[in-house]
This record gives sequence, structure tokens and C-alpha cells, in this order.
Amino acid sequence: MEDYIRIAGGKPLEGTVSIQGSKNAALPMMAASLLHKGVSVLKGCPRIADVFCMEEILRELGAVTWWEDHDLYMDCTNADKTEIPAAYTGKMRSSVILLAVMLSRNKKGCLGYPGGCVIGKRPIDLHLYALRQLGAKVEEGTELIMASCDSLRGKAIEFPKRSVGATQQAILAAVMASGETELLNCACEPEIKWLCRYLKTMGALIQGEGSSLIHITGVKELNGGCMKVPPDRIVAGTYICAAAITRGRLVLENPPEGELDAFLEVYRKMGGQYKGKSGKLIVNGNGIRYPVPFLKTEVYPGFPTDLQSPMMAVLTTIPGQSRIREQIFEARFKTAEELVRMGAHIRVEGREAVIDGGYPLQGCTVQAQELRGGAALVLAAMAAEGITCVEGYSYIRRGYEHICEDLSLCSS
Ligand code: EPZ
Repeated sequence: MEDYIRIAGGKPLEGTVSIQGSKNAALPMMAASLLHKGVSVLKGCPRIADVFCMEEILRELGAVTWWEDHDLYMDCTNADKTEIPAAYTGKMRSSVILLAVMLSRNKKGCLGYPGGCVIGKRPIDLHLYALRQLGAKVEEGTELIMASCDSLRGKAIEFPKRSVGATQQAILAAVMASGETELLNCACEPEIKWLCRYLKTMGALIQGEGSSLIHITGVKELNGGCMKVPPDRIVAGTYICAAAITRGRLVLENPPEGELDAFLEVYRKMGGQYKGKSGKLIVNGNGIRYPVPFLKTEVYPGFPTDLQSPMMAVLTTIPGQSRIREQIFEARFKTAEELVRMGAHIRVEGREAVIDGGYPLQGCTVQAQELRGGAALVLAAMAAEGITCVEGYSYIRRGYEHICEDLSLCSS
């Protein structure tokens, strides 16, 4: 498969798209499935590169997996290996939460360090802090992280800062630990709530999911899980940005419920319109015209960092000055350089990007360097005059199941 997308821009989007299952919900739910020594199923699971990578890791650990359309079956009866090669962990950061699962299942686990990427260093100190608090001995080697425990024991843990992955790591270690665990200052992203809901279908005893205080009572064993993967809120937000940047109109089927409030508030202030109707979300971007004087990314329920780059692309098409402050990751403005090559006027000043919008975007060849930045380049290409070739499609395929088909269908 060619590793680029070629896009002829300049037409308003008009059509209907169905939102895929959430990548960032599916990945921890797949990890949680390993906590049962039998079959679990995730319905409506997105068929994307990161899910296939996590599936390969489950197989590496001894699971048997298979698909029936978008339903992913995982038989983890014999998934008792306790080592994940760096080749996998370097490709996909979220494999690090499998440490908790291997400890819970076999009292030991070893894996390579997760890859960082252009958005930041991506340390895992909070992950290891949580595991140590729950009784694991963790050694940080040069190549590998090695963890072991006699048993995992419940404890009160307060996170010094909010981390989605570290919260998931702690939950996965605590559900079968002995005794009670109290997690304070947890991340509140919806993916945490969905993981807990899935674990509860397996018999886990969890209270407070979705809030910053989660209480877990350890159980001896978990049953097979079965749940539908929720819609991907970041894919939905990306598509709303596509309607905005082309001043078009989209109907979103299977939209996330109540998970995009901060994003939709900004979209509305820009002149965008939206309304829910019989389970669908109708968005109309032809009123988009107001720049955003100041926007900052925050932990949930604030404006999501994963929609910062797609939003930046939209703001380059709105006359006037907009300013974005990226507060979650230390290097998430790489896409600005590529947008500037398309004719955008963007100045990066440390943690802030100043966009002088309204200059026409010209099609050219640009390079995706990470998932959401790559999606932003696709959006810019849809608004640009002429043809744009976005190289690095493999980055975009990690999280978007059919962005090409969806958006080309709507721009005919
Ligand atoms: C999850 O990453 C998502 N990935 C990211 O989405 C998302 O951007 C991020 O949460 C924030 O919402 C998945 O769910 C697979 P964090 P995660 O731990 O868990 C620092 C995408 O495009 N930190 O909440 O890695 C970290 O460096 C991806 O789908 C530590 O300092 O995010 C960052 O600055 C990109 N120590 C901040 O916390 C740690 O031990 C938030 O990171 C862990 C994190």
C-alpha cells in the first residue's frame, strides 16, 4: 500500500460519516481482556494499525485472537508469557500498561521502553510509581523494564499529576490486587470510564470511574468481558474540523455522547453550528469565520490535546489572529512547519502557536510525523487549492480507519 494520500482540495464537504470505535478506549480494553483466562470480545472495534499491533502483542503473550467483521475475540486462556519485545513497545506507547496485566496474571513482566514521538518525551515515571505503590519491584534497565511481585496489594495512591496511561496502569493492577485501592487525582478522560465499565462486565468492583477519585476492591478472578467499543471522540472532532475547514456540512452517525463539550464550545464560537437529531450529530461549517484569540489544551474535560493540530489547521483558514497554548505535551506543534509550507502563517513561541489566518493554502507535498498532526494535514489539503500529497499515511492509519473513504465520499 502506498504510504501517501493524494488530495484535491477546494470543495465543501457534504455527506454522512459513521464514527469508528475509539482507538484510545479499545487499546486498554484489549489489555484488560488478558486478566481473564478465557474468551473476551470487543464489539465494534476499530480495524486500525494500533489495534492490530496490540493484537499482535496479545498473540505474542500466548492469546488466540480472531475477528468477526468489527468484533474482536480474544482467547487469553494460555496468555502466560511475561516478556514483550522492544520491537512492539517502541511502536506503540500504550503497550506499557501490559506491565500491570502481566504482574497481575503471573507476578512478573518485562518489556521494552515505549517509544516517544515528535509530540514529547512521554516518560512513564507515574506508571512505575503506581506499580511500586501496589507492591511491585520495578527495575529500569537500559533496554528493558523488569517488574515482579509476591502479590499486588491494594493501597491509597495519589498521582502527583494527571496521566491517562498511568491511571489505566494502576486500575489494571488494582482490580485483582488483595484489598482496597483508592486512586486520587486520576485522569478523567472518557477512556478511563470505558475501561472501568468493561472491567465491571468482567466482574471487577470499581466505583467513581470518570471522576478523579476511583475506588477498587480487589477480586480473586475476572470473567470474560463483552462490550461495544464506544465511538472515537477524537475522530469525531477531526471530522467536525473537516466540515469547518471546508465550510461544509456533515452528518455524523454513531457520534460520541457528551464527550466533546469543550471542543464544540470553541467550534461554536468560531461560527460553527451543530445539533443532535435522532442519535446523529449534524454539523454545519459554512458559518465558520471567527478567529480564536486564545485556546489552551487541558486535561479532560478541557479542550483535548489530540484535537489541537486539527483545530490549528482550521484556524489557518480564518482571517485574523488565533493563539493556541499546548499545555499537555512539550512538543506538539511540529505540524505547524508543514502547514506553513502550504502557505499558512504560523509562529511558534515556546508552548504557544500564533496563527495569522486567512492566507490561501496551496497544495504541495507535506510530511506527516505523527497521528493527529497527519490528520491535520489531510484537513488542510481539503481546503487547499490544487493537489496535496500527504506522505506518511502510515501514521494516520494508526488511528483513522477510513479517513480517505469517508472524506472523499463527502467531497465528490
Ligand atoms: C493518552 O496518552 C492518549 N493515548 C494520547 O493520545 C493523549 O494525547 C493523552 O492520553 C492525553 O489525553 C492513548 O490513550 C493510547 P498521559 P498518555 O499519560 O496516556 C506526562 C493519540 O493521538 N506523563 O495522560 O501517554 C506526559 O509526558 C494519543 O491518540 C508523565 O510525565 O498521556 C504528558 O506530558 C497521542 N509521566 C502528560 O503527562 C508519566 O508517567 C499527559 O500524558 C506519564 C505521562
